[in-house]
Amino acid sequence: FDIYKNMRNPDPDRLPVSYEEWEKAARHKLEDGPFYYVKGGAGGGRTMDANVSSFNRWQIVPRMLNNVDERDQSIQLFGQSFPSPILHAPIGTQSVIHKEGELGSAKACAELGIPYIASSASTFPMEKIAEAMGDAPRWFQHYWSRDPEIAASFVKRAEASGYSAIVVTLDTPMMAWREDDLRNVYLPFLIGEGVGNYFTDPAFLSKLDQSPQDDPEAAVMHWTKVFGNTGLTWDDLAFLREHTNLPILLKGILHPEDAELALKYGVDGIIVSNHGGRQVDGAIAAIDALPLITDTVQGRIPVLMDSGIRRGSDIIKAMALGAKAVLVGRPAMYGLAVDGQRGVKEVLQNLAADLDITLGLIGKNSVNQIDESVIVEAQKFR
Ligand code: FNR
Repeated sequence: FDIYKNMRNPDPDRLPVSYEEWEKAARHKLEDGPFYYVKGGAGGGRTMDANVSSFNRWQIVPRMLNNVDERDQSIQLFGQSFPSPILHAPIGTQSVIHKEGELGSAKACAELGIPYIASSASTFPMEKIAEAMGDAPRWFQHYWSRDPEIAASFVKRAEASGYSAIVVTLDTPMMAWREDDLRNVYLPFLIGEGVGNYFTDPAFLSKLDQSPQDDPEAAVMHWTKVFGNTGLTWDDLAFLREHTNLPILLKGILHPEDAELALKYGVDGIIVSNHGGRQVDGAIAAIDALPLITDTVQGRIPVLMDSGIRRGSDIIKAMALGAKAVLVGRPAMYGLAVDGQRGVKEVLQNLAADLDITLGLIGKNSVNQIDESVIVEAQKFR
């Protein structure tokens, strides 16, 4: 209710409200290179668009007279309690978006208790991000390097600095065909941003002839050789399991048979995601892949999802289709572009407020009560 109450005293530096306004405000702040790095998708952007439009295939059917005085959006995951089913998606090279970079985003999440997932490709070392967050919840996103020593080192460093889960992103063994970045001749990595986390890694540094300070170009070039790993197979997951006791989640699962394999190989969670439409143009929308995966998994491990979450009602639809929680990417990045930490906090807080209001308006007291009875497929309701 505070949101509406505050309308009586409008703040002259009022921040945007809707996703579309945040994107517009970010456009004013950023040059073409960084703006399209955030906004862009793979190829013609068809999957990126479908991620959002496919939410319209589902319609919420609100219930009345259920006493919604009390509402609770907290969830439990891997034995931890979080205040909301919203997590901050892993995003690399945030210092090209705002000078506060990952530190601003991580601190905003810490203020709200929303788990921050630090990208392997963070500008700042994962230890610095952890330090900025204090005791607040955080996970680490692992880009599995071609160099096994770096892969092992990243996991060890994450464990040592208080990250409580490892998210292995499977859909990016190499950069995709991204036409905006190609047009703008813009790849933050190749201009030296986003390598901070690698440039402080003992295993990475041990492979260089000269320090990154003395020869930054050679260090970036070495990074391009070791960043991804197109040779990985399911059996390689055993290597990761040997190096950590933390829960392991696989990010980028879209096919039910891959969900089956994830269960067979003993991972702890799945994130249904197409990387915000940034990898395979024409790939299935994440919200369309979700029910196929949750049907396969049958609650044996938590299934999370991202790609296309823009509003509270999207979260309700994702949870109705079996997601335990959702990750938010671009909305948070537009917040960062507009006003650093304050912008990210505002975006995430608004999303949680929108979820709270919508939860009450559909007649539910808790996100745990959201199930498939809350939605129908659009054509069935006509
Ligand atoms: C990403 N994403 C991503 N994912 C990941 O696992 N590691 C990373 O470093 C990045 N980097 C990254 C940069 C930028 C600018 C964007 C927009 C996205 C993907 C991200 O985690 C998430 O899957 C999508 O952003 C979700 O889609 P929405 O919310 O942006 O539609």
